[in-house]
Amino acid sequence: MKAARFSRFGGPEVLEIVDLPDPHPAPGQVRIAVRAAGVNASDWKKRQGLMDEELPQTMGYEAAGVVDELGAGVTDVTVGDRVFGFSTEGAAQAELAVLSHYAPIPPSLDFPAAALPAAVETATRALDQLGVADGSRLLVNGASGSVGSAAVQLAVARGARVIGTASPANHAYLRSLGAEPVAYGEGMAERLRALAPEGVDLALDVAGSGVLPELIELAGGPEQVLTVADFAGAQKYGVRFSRGDAGRALHALAGIGELTESGRFSLPVAQTFPLAEVAEAHRVGEAGRVRGKLVLVVG
Ligand SMILES: NC(=O)c1ccc[n+]([C@@H]2O[C@H](COP(=O)([O-])OP(=O)(O)OC[C@H]3O[C@@H](n4cnc5c(N)ncnc54)[C@H](OP(=O)(O)O)[C@@H]3O)[C@@H](O)[C@H]2O)c1
Repeated sequence: MKAARFSRFGGPEVLEIVDLPDPHPAPGQVRIAVRAAGVNASDWKKRQGLMDEELPQTMGYEAAGVVDELGAGVTDVTVGDRVFGFSTEGAAQAELAVLSHYAPIPPSLDFPAAALPAAVETATRALDQLGVADGSRLLVNGASGSVGSAAVQLAVARGARVIGTASPANHAYLRSLGAEPVAYGEGMAERLRALAPEGVDLALDVAGSGVLPELIELAGGPEQVLTVADFAGAQKYGVRFSRGDAGRALHALAGIGELTESGRFSLPVAQTFPLAEVAEAHRVGEAGRVRGKLVLVVG
């Protein structure tokens, strides 16, 4: 099968499409013929050598496709079913992927739109760990990206009041997700206080843009703040950093179907690329102005 891989760290040009042996599912896993695979910020951080030292590396934690082989003991789906889920080996950007955790794709989602497990899982995990619930007042810093868009909608569905930071061009978009927008950058705290004089009681940093001190002040203490993107800042300011390998919110996928079908959740596909153009997808993503998901279309 064809798969995206890199054998040295560097810019997008180190990405290549290679032939690898077809993978097979272990007990409890399924193999899918991949139709769509998400491209995420962790992909270019890995490619740059910022996350681990393994070489060569295949790529991609999430994919959507059609089940074509069942591991022993799998009874909840069958060959031909449309599923999305996680490749714990990080090998989803390929023609075939083994998924260790999966769920049926909501009927109204086409394949590119179904490449959303990572954003949904990350957002759910962050909201769970922060304790976002009915009546919470939540600030999401970086609300217009893929994780931010998911976090806003999932928090609104829990009954939270959500204020989100984005550049002004994305303010109407944030309103459409159910958030009240404020512009990030200098003066953000003052703009937020003008919008919500009673302040917020929780803050989620998705952008990693170096604003943890402001978020701590706005939310009333470091224990009220969580980041998924600012590891150094979390250590410096005593804020929780949430990482997937410490335990994923796998229940998130099963829950997203009902929200999607009732019109309360959608994640826009910002751009699609053929698998062979994975390097271009990295270039677009690294520019940092993507609204929604970047998706590799396979097959
Ligand atoms: N720890 C984990 O488990 C985990 C899991 C998944 C992702 N992550 C991390 O989460 C981060 C976000 O991922 P993502 O997929 O949501 O990224 P993304 O989709 O690429 O985010 C792009 C968004 O960032 C916004 N942005 C850029 N500069 C900003 C700033 N200074 N302040 C606020 N927002 C800003 C942009 O908003 P505008 O266009 O409106 O300016 C853009 O919409 C990445 O660092 C990723 O590595 C962590």
